[in-house]
Amino acid sequence: MNTDSLFSPFKHKSLNLRNRIVMAPMTRSFSPGGIPTDGVAEYYEKRAAGEVGLILSEGTVIGRPSSSNDPNVPHFYGEQALNGWKNVIDGVHSAGGSMGPQIWHMGVMNNHHSGWVPEVPFEGPSGLNNPELENGRSMSESDIADTIAAFGKAAADAKRLGFDCVEIHGAHGYLIDQFFWEATNLRKDIYGGATLAERSRFATEVIREVRRQVGDDFAVIIRLSQWKATAYTNKLARTPQEMELWLNLLADAGADIFHCSQRRFWEPEFEGSDLNFAGWAKKLTGKPTITVGSVGLTGEFLAAFQGESSDPSSLDELIRRFDRGDFDLVAVGRPLLADPQWVKKIHEGRTNELKGFTREALAELV
Ligand SMILES: Cc1cc2nc3c(=O)[nH]c(=O)nc-3n(C[C@H](O)[C@H](O)[C@H](O)COP(=O)(O)O)c2cc1C
Repeated sequence: MNTDSLFSPFKHKSLNLRNRIVMAPMTRSFSPGGIPTDGVAEYYEKRAAGEVGLILSEGTVIGRPSSSNDPNVPHFYGEQALNGWKNVIDGVHSAGGSMGPQIWHMGVMNNHHSGWVPEVPFEGPSGLNNPELENGRSMSESDIADTIAAFGKAAADAKRLGFDCVEIHGAHGYLIDQFFWEATNLRKDIYGGATLAERSRFATEVIREVRRQVGDDFAVIIRLSQWKATAYTNKLARTPQEMELWLNLLADAGADIFHCSQRRFWEPEFEGSDLNFAGWAKKLTGKPTITVGSVGLTGEFLAAFQGESSDPSSLDELIRRFDRGDFDLVAVGRPLLADPQWVKKIHEGRTNELKGFTREALAELV
């Protein structure tokens, strides 16, 4: 297995990466009261020391009263939390790494298993998490305006603290995706509509505000998925034409890089071609893309939450697609959660030292 191409540098605006491997954003819930601890900073610094090209932080929530359903998910607002993040980025830079926070608003959620709830009800386009779960309220126009401003503020803070880029979480059935999805966006105003293009208005306004706050030269990534946590086989864009319209609206608003979330990177997006989501996104927009999903592992991540373990697997198919030019960067989740040295081991060909993934790895920060 020749992995040399994955170890070529990548440059785009503010991003200057030593290789093509990205640590995927992974919620760890080890930030009590929303404040990233020294342990969190050490966790990321170890990945930088282990040669990860770009670290994307776990989802970190913007300053809205019900942007989170978990008291241990880090905030990206407030002095204490931002001081914690400053500690994180300084540690990552001292170890030669690059990093961006994944800024997040969860939208309408299930209540946390601990019974903790935010001070005000969850908010979303229509109070729905999915067609079966209503657990919040529909956002007013002023809620929407404040939320867009809070995304912008978080992005400005990311730049001010010294991060190398910012990623907007537009995937997996959370707030921005609740606007995209027709099953959770029943609005009759300018933020709703029968087409995906119409339902993209909220996302484009978020991206425009983020871009306005960070300027032209700071890299802005948007993470998208067709699937939802409650609907694995969902397609927001059912044809390449619909996808082209959707992604180009986001690109025109100011998105630089598309992070195309799949559970298995080798699955084709549309019939008649083996291109995956990242492959199509690159072809349709000409923008750099990030692929993700079971890279180097036999099983996918949602099954891992149910206790299914995964073994290391070959990178040959990934490299075939990468060398063909389908995508520019490759995000890796669970292997890096379990092993800070994963990238270094791949680089040095120490494949016999690679570990699999079991749910137990979630219990602590290693
Ligand atoms: C523990 C855990 C937490 C996750 N949290 C997030 C998150 O905060 N934001 C996000 O966009 N994706 C999240 N994901 C999805 C990952 O970023 C990634 O897309 C997924 O794990 C597939 O990659 P993998 O097969 O390499 O693990 C999470 C995944 C795991 C395993």
